[in-house]
Amino acid sequence: MKMSSFMYFARFGLKTLFTKSEKPILGTVIVTDKCNLHCKHCSVNNITAVIRPYEKVKEEMKTLYDMGIRILFFCGGETFLWNDSGKNLRDLVIEAKQMGFMIVNVVTNGTFKIDLPEADLILLSLDGDRERHNIIRGDTYDTIMENISHATADNICFYMAINKFNKEAVADVCQLAKNTKNVRAVSFNFHTPYPDTRELKLSVDEKREICEVIKDQMKKGAPVFNLKSAFPYLIENKFPTPCKQCVVIENGKISTCGRCIDIPGLCDECGYFFVAEYTLLFSGNLKVIFEMLRTYLKYV
Ligand SMILES: C[S@@+](CC[C@H](N)C(=O)[O-])C[C@H]1O[C@@H](n2cnc3c(N)ncnc32)[C@H](O)[C@@H]1O
Ligand code: SF4
Ligand code: SF4
Repeated sequence: MKMSSFMYFARFGLKTLFTKSEKPILGTVIVTDKCNLHCKHCSVNNITAVIRPYEKVKEEMKTLYDMGIRILFFCGGETFLWNDSGKNLRDLVIEAKQMGFMIVNVVTNGTFKIDLPEADLILLSLDGDRERHNIIRGDTYDTIMENISHATADNICFYMAINKFNKEAVADVCQLAKNTKNVRAVSFNFHTPYPDTRELKLSVDEKREICEVIKDQMKKGAPVFNLKSAFPYLIENKFPTPCKQCVVIENGKISTCGRCIDIPGLCDECGYFFVAEYTLLFSGNLKVIFEMLRTYLKYV
């Protein structure tokens, strides 16, 4: 991260803490909900299957920028399916950087060729070892590994949603993150139980055991891009929700925190680590503040 960006985020953090401001800093543009996969745990793919027009995506980026957002995520559906008016996802990333976003990340299922050196991080979903990943995501593991090996930059971070299917595979993914070329880190979420995937929800005891595995992997040098100081809050869902500093824009509609905000009761069962990490940070949790500084400087 550039020093100027670091200073900007530090000022934003202090201002949020001391003035209790609810201004957002992190925004996500959903470029399409179309997807080539139908993962077992996912409730947000192919609802409209519309690719958002380039001009609309650009407008949405501008809207987020004008709101003060400086950390931008492109998400889907499958982001690499996005193209319009002769532009592709890489053009969007370059444009976002030119617009002034300081960190630009992309979330992908990794089944397409990865040529996105301008992104700060490519969050690439990997949901376990080959067997467990393929149970959840269809027969895609080998294609993904092949795409990673030919990626044009080392900006990949595995992104694993831990659920009943793959809870035993956390250590495998940590080790793979440590030992795979072009992969910088791994970041986790617990399954967030949307009404149609409630059966995949983890119990408090399961989450506690998984956090012990992740901590052990951190000790062994696995590059985990999460904050262990947030684990106790994640295990018991004792962190504040929603994240007021995060917004999502999908089809022109802006939601605070996530598009899941409209699902009654879901925030009380939220499994997204970034929500816990950001809300604890902005509520002044000192351990989280120090660990976040160290972690972000290391991986972004
Ligand atoms: C919705 S996908 C969109 C981007 C891309 N298609 C992908 O799979 O990475 C973004 C991330 O959300 C995760 N995800 C989907 N449903 C989830 C849920 N109910 N709880 C936690 N994570 C979930 C996916 O595993 C993926 O890592
Ligand atoms: S690849 Fe991503 S968007 Fe597509 S079904 Fe899987 S999790 Fe959902
Ligand atoms: S806190 Fe609520 S809105 Fe935010 S990601 Fe979690 S479930 Fe979605």
